[in-house]
Parts: sequence; structure tokens; C-alpha cells
Amino acid sequence: MNQTSNIERVHTDAIRARKGRDPLVCLTAYTTPMAKALDPYCDLLLVGDSLAMVIYGLETTRGVTLDIMIAHGQAVMRGTERACVVVDLPHGSYETSEYQAIASAARVMSETGCQAVKLEGGVEMASTVKAIVDAGVPVLGHVGLLPQKAEHRGGFKIQGKDDEGAKQVMADAQAIADAGAFAMVIEGTVEPVARAITEQVGVPTIGIGASPACDGQILVTQDMIGTFADFTPKFVKKYADLGTAMTDAAKAYAEDVRARRFPGLEHCFGVEKPAD
Ligand code: KIV
Repeated sequence: MNQTSNIERVHTDAIRARKGRDPLVCLTAYTTPMAKALDPYCDLLLVGDSLAMVIYGLETTRGVTLDIMIAHGQAVMRGTERACVVVDLPHGSYETSEYQAIASAARVMSETGCQAVKLEGGVEMASTVKAIVDAGVPVLGHVGLLPQKAEHRGGFKIQGKDDEGAKQVMADAQAIADAGAFAMVIEGTVEPVARAITEQVGVPTIGIGASPACDGQILVTQDMIGTFADFTPKFVKKYADLGTAMTDAAKAYAEDVRARRFPGLEHCFGVEKPAD
């Protein structure tokens, strides 16, 4: 429980217990004001390495470091009371050895105070997931389309399209569940396979471009609010157009400044308020 309010934080055990029950509401968050706006409505907030693209303007998720993820994790923790906060382990911070993965996960946990870490990968990362979980850090898995590896797999391709692909994603999901992940993201995977995984594994699945049958759903918030216009995947539903609102506000401000309509005397100091 928070020291100054009586709001209970959602922990990973509570997320795990939601398997097969009412859907988990999840979004990404990267800053304190954004986290404050989303926290009352979300079970889980992910400090995703998608921030490389939607905040830092990079072309892939691979350009962010552990230090950057930790800084954003701290910002999101400052803005939340309720949601379970998960921080992505960025590319290069966990693949070299189990020792490296545990050290990175431990840094994220101790320096942010978040509830869990997420890492991408299936069968090939199962022993790493187990090692981090055994070290006492809850892990959210991520199978299907893996943005950190997309460059080497011919781009952002939907997974599970043929028999072999479907078997691979199913095996990946099972391996991550067996390794002790408390839940897993299924990204960019054909609907019947995402549905079958959800029926097969004993932990909640959180879909993005996956299936309405998943135990929860997640979107990149910038996609959902319309502030990332470079590319909008098919699976995104836009709930607001804040990108246009921002441009309109900048245009109106520029017009006011150029016409000397802003600032007015009411925005200045040392000016007597005129008598009514
Ligand atoms: O980095 C991210 O935002 C993610 C989501 C797409 C699940 O991993």
C-alpha cells in the first residue's frame, strides 16, 4: 500500500491470478504525467523499449540503453500508485549470459522500484527467464513478433502463418510459461495461434496484434492517442488524435504571438488588475 494513499498496488501474483478471468487492461507509459493519466484505468503499465521509436525518434527499438530504461522506469513509478509497472530489458542487456541478465534485471528492480521486467524471446530465452525468476525477479515474457530481433528476421512480420511457424510460437510460449514467467505478451501473431496459446498456457496472455481471446490487451499509448504518426499498424485503434491537437495548439500560439495577442497583461507581473 502507498504511504500517502490507501490505493493497493497490483502485484505480479494478482496479474497471474487473472488467467481466464476479466481482461487485463495494459498500456505503455514512459513519463510521469502520462503514467498519472493512465494509472487509474490500467492493471499493468509497461515501460516499453518502444520508447526508442515513439519518444526518441529512432528507427528501431534497439537504440536504447539500460540507463535510459531505468530513467523512464523511475519517471513512471513516480506517476503511479495502482498499476503493476513492468520495465523492458533493452536489447544487449540480457542476451550474453544468465549472469548479465540477472544483473540487468536486479538493477532495474532496485533503481526503479518497479514490479517486474520484460524480455523478448521463446525457447532460446527460457533458461534466462528461469534464472531471473530464480533470482527473485518476476518476468513478463514476450513471444511472437519480437521487435528487438525483427531486423534480423526480415522485418516486422506477422508470426505463426504456416504450420511450422505456428508450432514455433506455441513452443516459445509454453517454454516461457514453464520457465516461470508470470504472464506473457503475444505480439503480431495470427489470431488462431494466439487463441490456441491462450488456451494452452497456464499464465495470462496479453495480446497486441494477437486475439480478442487473450487474457489481456496492450497497445503502445502513443499509437492509441495519435502522437506517433510515422506508421500505424493494423492492430491499433486510435482513441484520440492528440497529434493534431498539439499541432493546432502550436499554430494558434504562433498566430497569437505574431499578432501580439499573447501574452496579455493578465499573464504579466506587476500590473494592476483593472477595476471591474
Ligand atoms: O516495447 C513495447 O512497447 C512493447 C509492447 C509492444 C508490448 O513491447
